[in-house]
Amino acid sequence: MSALCSVMVLSKDGNSHLKNQMQVAASMMVVFENYRFDEWMTGLEDARTQAVLLDGNKLTLKQLQMIQAAYTQGPWRAEVSIYLWQAGGSKANHCPDAIHLDYDHKDSAAVLTHICEDLQHKAQTPFYSALKTYVNRHTDSWHTPGHSNGDSLRQSAWASDFYHFVGQPMWQADLSVSVHSLDSLLHPQSVIAEAQHLAAQAFGARHTYFATNGSSTANKVILQSLLTPGDTLLLDRNCHKSVHHGVILSGARPVYLDSSVNQALGLFGLVPQKTILQAIAEHPHAKALILTSSTYDGMCYDLQPIIAAAHAHHIKVIIDEAWYGFARFHPQFRPTALELGADYVTQSTHKTMSAFSQAAWCTSMIPITTPIFCVKPSICMRLPVRNTAFWRA
Ligand SMILES: Cc1ncc(COP(=O)(O)O)c(C=O)c1O
Repeated sequence: MSALCSVMVLSKDGNSHLKNQMQVAASMMVVFENYRFDEWMTGLEDARTQAVLLDGNKLTLKQLQMIQAAYTQGPWRAEVSIYLWQAGGSKANHCPDAIHLDYDHKDSAAVLTHICEDLQHKAQTPFYSALKTYVNRHTDSWHTPGHSNGDSLRQSAWASDFYHFVGQPMWQADLSVSVHSLDSLLHPQSVIAEAQHLAAQAFGARHTYFATNGSSTANKVILQSLLTPGDTLLLDRNCHKSVHHGVILSGARPVYLDSSVNQALGLFGLVPQKTILQAIAEHPHAKALILTSSTYDGMCYDLQPIIAAAHAHHIKVIIDEAWYGFARFHPQFRPTALELGADYVTQSTHKTMSAFSQAAWCTSMIPITTPIFCVKPSICMRLPVRNTAFWRA
């Protein structure tokens, strides 16, 4: 976690007794900033805001209901938790998604400690912490990978330049399943399992599975897990080639759905909704439907009616979010496919988030995600386009 975290304290008039309080907890400093109720939107848009504390003694029931509606229907960043501070909690029903802090209004120290502990829990990095500990403690290497912390290259007459180009920390951090404390990606039981659990919480999934080789692998894992030879799969003909590869590997029978095309711009768009609904009606026994949302060009489906129609026939919905993993963390892009009930989502955490190349995850309801994530603001500016009238079928 960064050294500075910010909690927005929201009261009716902006006069909470937490004004300008700070708390230093371990490596982080938490700053509490007061806002008037009518300023909540501005406070939420500030990327430094990591939690919102509602002053239950001062806010009216209507104000709490407005915050609750914003939390469930947007605009809200998913990583920002809400707390409701009120002894007794008589107003708690009006903001049921808030974490209720049942402390007397004078007991600000307990409130501060509670929130700081939660922030620290959220900021845990189980895999990275174990990696750092191992690297700091072990200066030699007697296991795979064979470059042994880069030792085999450092003094090489042929390749020392590459050692220096990549840098020593990178060689030290390139470790494998040979190091027991770093867990196993194929059978996670400790730090990778914990990291996957935290990623699932952050991305709103029931389970998250980290994958290497990008969403290409994640798509194939899902298709091979769900489909048996002869099963019907409804798919966008213009989907990524890893999906076509998954169809071949699984032996499924593909039903191709043609995407719209903008001839003038030479761009593929979405599969028109009526084509999808018709395909579902014509193939009610299909096992799964897979669509790309957003597309490379930033086009998103109106997923709710599509998911509802598929689920009415017990058809699983897989959404390829290779380009859209960041969506949960900006109010403008929500609700995400998982929030709308998609069963499986794949995300290339190395594409529009800050993971190293070839990282990805599948998440379920199942989404798929990577251990290091953060949003690139430039990428956030890729606005989803929902108006398909622009596209000629
Ligand atoms: C829609 C879509 N899905 C999946 C992939 C594969 O992603 P990765 O590079 O993470 O394997 C791509 C790659 O461009 C893509 O555009």
